[in-house]
Amino acid sequence: MDTNFLDRRSFLLLSATGAAGCLYAAFRFARSGPRSLAALSAQAGPFGMGDAAAKAGLVPARLADGSYEISADAVEVGQSAVLAAGGIPLLLIRGEKSARIFNATCTHLGCLVRWDAASQRFLCPCHGGTYDADGKVISGPPPAALLEHKTETAGGKIRFTVA
Ligand code: FES
Repeated sequence: MDTNFLDRRSFLLLSATGAAGCLYAAFRFARSGPRSLAALSAQAGPFGMGDAAAKAGLVPARLADGSYEISADAVEVGQSAVLAAGGIPLLLIRGEKSARIFNATCTHLGCLVRWDAASQRFLCPCHGGTYDADGKVISGPPPAALLEHKTETAGGKIRFTVA
């Protein structure tokens, strides 16, 4: 029996196992941030999104033309809320007379960002990416701005599209 062959095979097996472990750890790290609306709402903490999301009326109605609509009263001025429309996680930022809606998906590796009202920034918990109030990248690894969805506020309603 060739003992060198067995040693080499054992070495290769251990190396492959170690490499698989490292890949799994890297995968877990890369996907460590929130990836669902439920997770985003649950960790809202000081950002207040969980409270806002829990309020009634935050489920947008889909209109015949494919746009979405929610009551402007559902979110207080200065607050943010987590929404979902068309399967897309969204963050609504309510201003005095209008609202802005952004896709909450970080442009780096897809974690869900959250709105920090105190600093007026979007923060990504995964790798520290930050975006300004217009969704433009301030720092960190995100390669592009957050996508903002067209929004109109009139008659006590906030109407938006996700296309
Ligand atoms: S996923 Fe990496 S900074 Fe957001």
